[in-house]
Amino acid sequence: MTYTADPAPPTAPDAAQVAGADHDRAGTGQIIEQVEARSAHNYHPLPVAVAEARGAWVTDVEGRRYLDCLAGYSALNFGHGHPAILAAARAQLDRLTLTSRAFLHDQLGPFCAELADLAGMDMVLPMNTGAEAVESGIKVARKWGYDVKGVPDGQGNIVVAEDNFHGRTTTIVSFSTDPLARTGFGPYTPGFRIVPYGDAAAVEGAIDENTVAVLIEPVQGEAGVVVPPPGYLTALRELCTRERVLLVADEIQSGLGRTGTTFACEHEGVRPDMYLLGKALGGGVVPVSAVVADREVLGVLHPGEHGSTFGGNPLACAVGRAVVALLRTGEYQRRAAELGERLHRRLSGLVGSGVVRVRGVGLWAGIDVDPDLGTGRQVCELLMARGVLAKDTHGSTVRFAPPLVIEEEDLDRAVDALADVLAELRR
Ligand SMILES: Cc1ncc(COP(=O)(O)O)c(C=O)c1O
Repeated sequence: MTYTADPAPPTAPDAAQVAGADHDRAGTGQIIEQVEARSAHNYHPLPVAVAEARGAWVTDVEGRRYLDCLAGYSALNFGHGHPAILAAARAQLDRLTLTSRAFLHDQLGPFCAELADLAGMDMVLPMNTGAEAVESGIKVARKWGYDVKGVPDGQGNIVVAEDNFHGRTTTIVSFSTDPLARTGFGPYTPGFRIVPYGDAAAVEGAIDENTVAVLIEPVQGEAGVVVPPPGYLTALRELCTRERVLLVADEIQSGLGRTGTTFACEHEGVRPDMYLLGKALGGGVVPVSAVVADREVLGVLHPGEHGSTFGGNPLACAVGRAVVALLRTGEYQRRAAELGERLHRRLSGLVGSGVVRVRGVGLWAGIDVDPDLGTGRQVCELLMARGVLAKDTHGSTVRFAPPLVIEEEDLDRAVDALADVLAELRR
C-alpha cells in the first residue's frame, strides 16, 4: 500500500523504543487509573493507550509503536487514517453532518445505490452499529414472514447457530450460547432455534412452516475464526430456497474484504437473501451499518415502522461511499487473499511449536495456542511487549486480523513475534 509510511516509515516495532512522546499527555498508568475509576468494567483491555495511528501502525501515549493485528475487530480493514476515507469525512464534516431522516440529503441516495450495487441487491436500510443491523434484519425477516410468506403474526421463528456472535442487545444475547454474553440479562426474547454451526442437516431439522430466516455468520469471528465445512453455505442456500426461508448472512466481521473476497459468501458462490454489514463500512471513522436485500424483502418496511436518528446520516453516508469506492477497486480483497495465504502458510509452520491449530481464511486467523503454555491473554501480553497488538478469545485462542493494508514484511514481523513468544513460553 502506498500510504502506510505517513508521516515517517516505522523504524522498529520495539515497544521499549520511546520517541517523540508528548509530555503534556497523561501516561499509560494514569489513563488506566482514570478508565478503571470511571468507566464501566465491561472490557479488560491490554495495558496500552493509543495516541495516534496510520495504516497498520499505532503509537501509544509514550511514543511506543505497535503493529495493530486486531484492526478494530475488522472495523479498520482499510487501516488507520486512510487518506481517501479521511478526505471524504473531512469534506462532509465541513458541509453537513446530520439532518435526521425527517429530511433528505444528497448522500443517502448515492450511498444506498452504490452499496446495493456492490452487493448485487436492490435496497439498503442504513443503521449505525452492527447489533442494530442484526436487530433490523431480524425485524425485517419477521415482517417478511408475516406479510409475504403468510406466517401467522407473532409465530415466526429464526434458526441460528451455536457459538454465534451477533452483538449485545437483549434480543441478540437471547440466542447466544456464550454464558458470559447471556447470563444475567434475561428475560430472553423467544423465537430462535439454535443448532450446531456447520451442520446443514441440523438446520433442515429445525425449520418448520413458521421459520422466516436462517441467520448465520459465513465465518464465525468471535468464536475463534471458525470456517464452516465446504458446502455448508451452498446447502443452506438450497435449503432456504426450497423451504422459502430467508438466508441472512451476518457479514459484519467477515465482509468487506477481510476473507479475500468482498463477501465471505462468495467463496461458495452463494448469494444470501440479506446481508448484514457494519464495522469496516464506517471506515474506522464513524459507526455505519446496513441491511442489504432485494425489494421483495426490504420493501416490507413502511414509514414509521423502523428507524434511527443517526442511521443514514450525511457523514456516515459520505464515509460509506468512500469505503464502497475502495472495495470496487478489488485491491483490498486481492491483498487479503495474497497476504492471507502467506499468513496461513507461516502460521501453519508453528503448529507443533506451541500452536495446536490454526483456522481462518484471508487475512484472518484464529490461532489455538497449546493451553499448557499459557492463556491467549498471556500470549497477547507477551506479543504487546514485542510491539504487536492482538486479541485473545475463548481461553487459549489468539486472533490475527491486521488491516488489509499491512505490508508483507510487517505481517512477517507479527508472525516472528508470535514464534518468539511461543519459544519463550516453551522454555
Ligand atoms: C458477526 C458480528 N455481528 C455483529 C456484531 C456486532 O457489531 P457491533 O459491535 O458494531 O454492535 C459483531 C461484532 O463483533 C460481529 O462480529
